[in-house]
Amino acid sequence: MSSIHKSEIKKVTTHQLQEMKYRGEKISMLTAYDFSMARLLDAAGIDVILVGDSASNVMAGHETTLPITLDQMIYHASSVIRAVERALVVVDLPFGSYQGNSSEALRSAIRIMKESGAHAVKIEGGLEIKESVLRILSAGIPVMGHLGLTPQSIYKFGTYAVRAQEEVEAKKLREDAKLLQDCGCFSVVLEKIPSSLAKEVSEHLQIPVIGIGAGPHTDGQVLVSHDMLGINNEFKPRFLRTYANLQEVIHNAVTQYIKDVKSNDFPNQNECY
Ligand code: KIV
Repeated sequence: MSSIHKSEIKKVTTHQLQEMKYRGEKISMLTAYDFSMARLLDAAGIDVILVGDSASNVMAGHETTLPITLDQMIYHASSVIRAVERALVVVDLPFGSYQGNSSEALRSAIRIMKESGAHAVKIEGGLEIKESVLRILSAGIPVMGHLGLTPQSIYKFGTYAVRAQEEVEAKKLREDAKLLQDCGCFSVVLEKIPSSLAKEVSEHLQIPVIGIGAGPHTDGQVLVSHDMLGINNEFKPRFLRTYANLQEVIHNAVTQYIKDVKSNDFPNQNECY
């Protein structure tokens, strides 16, 4: 990647994601919240980077996504944007920044776009946030929807269990997905729902559907990068595949460093001026 001139890099656009769906090419998406991780993911060729409000859990150690603020999301998003040359960068509208009314939603989305340089926003919910989605889209800001397990509503759900297993909730999800598409959203995330329902929605919608814990039939997949890299080994839901054990790698590196410092092995002659 570093040998390629910046102007030669073809940036991923919402239009390209749509074409990928038509071609049957799966879309890869991971979260990043800081410059260094975003640079690694972008250089590896990830299609979409999500500056998720999961930063509230992963970066700040909160139990839920609710505490993270709009200012904090903008800080994370700006750091990611400075690193990215190719991927499409989508930023979560945090809890409390869009539910009040559509003017507030538009103001929040504009702040994210203006202050971070992000390419799109993601928003949780369906019919109940329709006015906000329309208002944001009317300003020319691309919107990704998010249905199924929407973590900002965890206190309403009461648990992180699989959503839409009953027909009433499945029906609402189908309707909400169609509504988000009809409003003009460029994509929708489906989180932790039965694979059969995700398949049905993905086949029905023209826009790309990205799944997390939603089975193999969606148009793309998203995971939290810290989970799939094994940085946080305590979180092991069934849908998660871990591709590395960075917790062990980092632990071993740090314990070796401590030993080397204590034993006066570090720094050696070659590591001095
Ligand atoms: O905040 C986040 O990381 C997300 C993904 C889990 C989709 O919304």
